[in-house]
Amino acid sequence: MHNGINIGANKVSEKKIIKKAKGKLGILTPGMGAVATTTYAGTIAIKKGLAKPIGSLTQMGHIRLGDRNKDQQPLIKDFVPLATLDDIVFGGWDPIDDNAYEAAIKAGVLETHHLLPIREEMEAIKPMSAVFDQRWIKNLDGPNVKKGLNKLDLAEQLMADMEKFKKDNNCDRLVIVWCASTEAHQEIQDVHMTLEAFEDGLKNNDPAISPSQIYAYAAITKGIPFANGAPNLSVDTPALIEYAEQQNVPICGKDFKTGQTLMKTILAPGFKSRLLGLNGWFSTNILGNRDGEVLDDPESFKSKEVSKLGVLESILQPEKYPELYDDLYHKVRINYYPPRRDNKEGWDNIDIFGWMHYPMQIKIDFLCRDSILAAPLVLDLALFMDLASRNQEKGIQEWLSFYFKSPQTPKGLKPENDLFIQQTKLKNTLRMWMGEEPITHVDNN
Ligand SMILES: NC(=O)c1ccc[n+]([C@@H]2O[C@H](COP(=O)([O-])OP(=O)(O)OC[C@H]3O[C@@H](n4cnc5c(N)ncnc54)[C@H](O)[C@@H]3O)[C@@H](O)[C@H]2O)c1
Repeated sequence: MHNGINIGANKVSEKKIIKKAKGKLGILTPGMGAVATTTYAGTIAIKKGLAKPIGSLTQMGHIRLGDRNKDQQPLIKDFVPLATLDDIVFGGWDPIDDNAYEAAIKAGVLETHHLLPIREEMEAIKPMSAVFDQRWIKNLDGPNVKKGLNKLDLAEQLMADMEKFKKDNNCDRLVIVWCASTEAHQEIQDVHMTLEAFEDGLKNNDPAISPSQIYAYAAITKGIPFANGAPNLSVDTPALIEYAEQQNVPICGKDFKTGQTLMKTILAPGFKSRLLGLNGWFSTNILGNRDGEVLDDPESFKSKEVSKLGVLESILQPEKYPELYDDLYHKVRINYYPPRRDNKEGWDNIDIFGWMHYPMQIKIDFLCRDSILAAPLVLDLALFMDLASRNQEKGIQEWLSFYFKSPQTPKGLKPENDLFIQQTKLKNTLRMWMGEEPITHVDNN
């Protein structure tokens, strides 16, 4: 519910006045590795007319309005008041002190001939010193790290960075998208349960508070929307959800939906809608970027595994379809293999069965580029989170589940992982915000 409008209801649309996107929008990324630098580079190249925003719903997507026969389908960016690419300024934090050009060269996602024409703009993006602790990311180290009296002091230093960036770059608004490495897996603990306990924990240096939680706390304190692209908890704790509500700040997460999991959430809804059974889904892949190296540590992999495994169960609903999905064996493996760098190869072997239980197999060999798939998601999330903030939304933005492997969901609700339901929810939310009827596909609709 928001201002008396129930987003889930069918017929209640009420135009709200969304504040215009005036002035510059600063997009800050904790982490200036492969995903972040590919996002910056692509956006700068698009602004210069050197590339097209392929994969970005905010830039290329259309949205149908009203009856089918009216053929009203504006671009999303013409329908809702998004910030324009020309108004974006990028910044970030990283323990490694390479500027964005050097980091992009090292990440090896984009070829040098694509980076050279934007070299100057990329070199100008220099990492602010990070809140970093090797306890959470074993296979990484760097010199560009903040020192503080305690975790609250570190959070305050981040807040000062945010303010300084905003002032120096003459920004009207900021938004933060976590693009840093995956932190070690952790279950929610007492310190995460309430805002009071969390704030005490910051002062007392509670070991269960990770760097990504410190960034999230700092962002929320400053009223800055925060999206989490990695699978670690970050903003997904009762304390920070409570804080975001209290501060009127939109938050969302977790884990960008790209690669194998994207394929899963495209295929599984299809099997289920045709009532085809599944008894095995084995996914393995090789990748050689720094993300792969970090995920080589079992504790970081555990965060990823939890996020990747959840999707099938929530889409297939084995409790409702026990004959079809109760015996599903689902296995996910990630193998660090340096020669591949960012060009991952993902294999899926899917054992399905049909009429009279006859077995069939599907094999997928997806030669994908992780960061090429992730970059447009970072851009879209930043623009939509800024929109949500101008629309006075607060707390978990479930309508952005479309972008996540493990969507953050209000307490008591199961996440929706089906890509097509997620897309419908996203578009209907935009329609409702703009005073249009949601599309239900009934009658002429
Ligand atoms: N590429 C994809 O398709 C994809 C999909 C889903 C999720 N992700 C997640 O996105 C994140 C980024 O992926 P990537 O490929 O760019 O990884 P990367 O290793 O290239 O970059 C991560 C960067 O974060 C920095 N970092 C680590 N801890 C930090 C901290 N506390 N503060 C600031 N910076 C910190 C590292 O030094 C590194 O430069 C990872 O968590 C990854 O799991 C990526």
